Amino acid sequence: MTTVTRVPFVELQAQYSTIGAEIEARVLEVLRNAQYIGGPEVAGLEAEFAAYCGTAEAIAVNSGTAALHVALLALGVGPGDEVITVAHTFVATAEAVVQAGATPVFVDIEPVTMGMDPAQLERAITPRTRAIIPVHLYGQPARIDEIQAIAERHGIPVIEDACQAHGARLGGRRMGAFGTIGCFSFYPSKNLGAIGEGGIAVTDSPELASRMRLFRAHGEAENQRYRHEVVGYNYRLPAIQAAALRVKLPHLDGWSAQRRDRARRYDELLADTEVVTPRVQPGAEHVYHLYPIRHPRRDGLQRGLAEAGIQTGIHYPIPVHLQTPYAQYGAGRGSLPQTEAAAAEVLSLPMYAELRDDQIDHVVSTLQRLVQAL
Ligand SMILES: Cc1ncc(COP(=O)(O)O)c(C=O)c1O
Repeated sequence: MTTVTRVPFVELQAQYSTIGAEIEARVLEVLRNAQYIGGPEVAGLEAEFAAYCGTAEAIAVNSGTAALHVALLALGVGPGDEVITVAHTFVATAEAVVQAGATPVFVDIEPVTMGMDPAQLERAITPRTRAIIPVHLYGQPARIDEIQAIAERHGIPVIEDACQAHGARLGGRRMGAFGTIGCFSFYPSKNLGAIGEGGIAVTDSPELASRMRLFRAHGEAENQRYRHEVVGYNYRLPAIQAAALRVKLPHLDGWSAQRRDRARRYDELLADTEVVTPRVQPGAEHVYHLYPIRHPRRDGLQRGLAEAGIQTGIHYPIPVHLQTPYAQYGAGRGSLPQTEAAAAEVLSLPMYAELRDDQIDHVVSTLQRLVQAL
């Protein structure tokens, strides 16, 4: 038995070694066919990803941020409008709101799902609220059924930021299929990752789908070249990315099951320690894009783990309402206590489908030693 001396945070090569030959063959086909943009690979990915999510439509774009941006634009969100979201997220959620010309309104999270607190949402709605963006952070469904019920009562569309939650379910339904539009990122380290940048939006509305397609490609009419109906963007997904993603999609549920199994081992081994492990709401199927523990001496734990060869991450150390360009939209330090506590305490442990038992055991035994010494 060899002793584990290094545990990387993610290990993209481990996945590539299992399906790389198939990806290379499919990418080579795209290169030989010379259909680099659009074409059958992109159309195929859209059909397959929509079917996977259980939605009528999917619109492939070149990042998760672009998906959020075209979703907002398709809904007509713009200057003077408010969009309610969370500050405990990757900055792109709020960035897309500002890019659309609207004002992000930050509400606090609740500690089980680490997602939007429905009670806070209800209080933040004003006559100017034009959209709500909950985030399914870490691969964990937010309280989307409660959020959706509040939104419907007020007639406000929900855009799900499912950029970290491909395939996650609540009551058997996939994330992205609850709201008016769901947005995903295919950044390489995501549970479903491209071989570069990529993203996709899903919806049941053919009208919104065709609006998003307009904004994706320079505002050009779908059936008439060089007739431009709106000021759009170049957000098209390259065909080689679609080809690689189509190879990976059939494996996604298997990889998610492996991630859940890895999380279960962490949960069990960490049960008797002082660290707080992720909690899951009833009926939810978490896909563990990340496995964040919580501890008040997080920074010391991270340093100790690094000295033992264990890479970790912090998602995210500075909440969006305290980031310089976004401070103008928030109410400052102390305004979102759950968010600020999470930012100070979360520590993401190594997590990927191929993570081995001996690697998890090394992480856990190192953590146990560090927690006792702190
Ligand atoms: C929660 C969240 N929202 C949005 C994004 C933006 O996605 P992308 O990096 O593909 O633009 C990401 C991923 O990076 C994310 O994790």
